[in-house]
Amino acid sequence: MKILGISGSSRKKDTSGVYKLVKTVLENTGIEYDLVSLRGKKIGGCIACLGCAKDNICKVSDDMTELRDKIVGADAYVIGAPNYYSGLNAVTHAFIERWFQFRHQGGDTLWGKLGIAVGVGGMDGRFPADDIEKFFLYSFIETLAKVSGQGAASCYSCGYGESCAVGIPQMLYGKNVKITNEMIPDVSRQPEAMTSAADAGILLGKRLKSGHDRKVVTQNMQQKMTDMMN
Ligand SMILES: Cc1cc2nc3c(=O)[nH]c(=O)nc-3n(C[C@H](O)[C@H](O)[C@H](O)COP(=O)(O)O)c2cc1C
Repeated sequence: MKILGISGSSRKKDTSGVYKLVKTVLENTGIEYDLVSLRGKKIGGCIACLGCAKDNICKVSDDMTELRDKIVGADAYVIGAPNYYSGLNAVTHAFIERWFQFRHQGGDTLWGKLGIAVGVGGMDGRFPADDIEKFFLYSFIETLAKVSGQGAASCYSCGYGESCAVGIPQMLYGKNVKITNEMIPDVSRQPEAMTSAADAGILLGKRLKSGHDRKVVTQNMQQKMTDMMN
């Protein structure tokens, strides 16, 4: 059994809230995992060429190519993304968009697998987690839990955070804000986020070890999809 973890943050792992939460989920599963960061990867969106229609293999050549085997080989996914404009950031969106390659003919590569969705935002991490859940549903993957936290908006470190009228520091602390290290959000210091990440990992580990029935999960997700469409 293997879990594929994806951190869609463009930040280095030490400074990314997404990376930390995804890793915490994975560490708590008790199952072998692979954690891949999308930082620096060149992954474009689906170009609707339909090159994958015959064999469910994307023909676009970029950094997504090397990730295909990892996606196919995983029993579950822990995917995390930063909140950009109340949604997924571009590289995570492109990464999951390219899962279109698995959707043709009898393409059941992903069906009935399990997932955890992770989101981190300068204000709110729920939007990207919701987006990931929706993407999971399109592949009939069950989202077992969603985890979100507050990360460090760039405004704290851009150099203009105290004087910028449209930045998060002024938005949260008012015009005379003085930035201190303590006020910069870090998911590691958010017990609620860390506990929900750990709990999500434990839940995922239990479900995988119990030998979950992919057919049943698939049927449930197909029904959920039908309900969503109607
Ligand atoms: C282009 C851009 C857009 C952003 N938009 C939002 C937003 O709409 N809402 C929000 O809460 N945070 C927003 N943020 C802040 C990030 O979500 C925040 O910095 C978060 O910590 C990123 O996660 P990471 O540290 O794992 O990369 C934005 C950041 C960037 C660079």
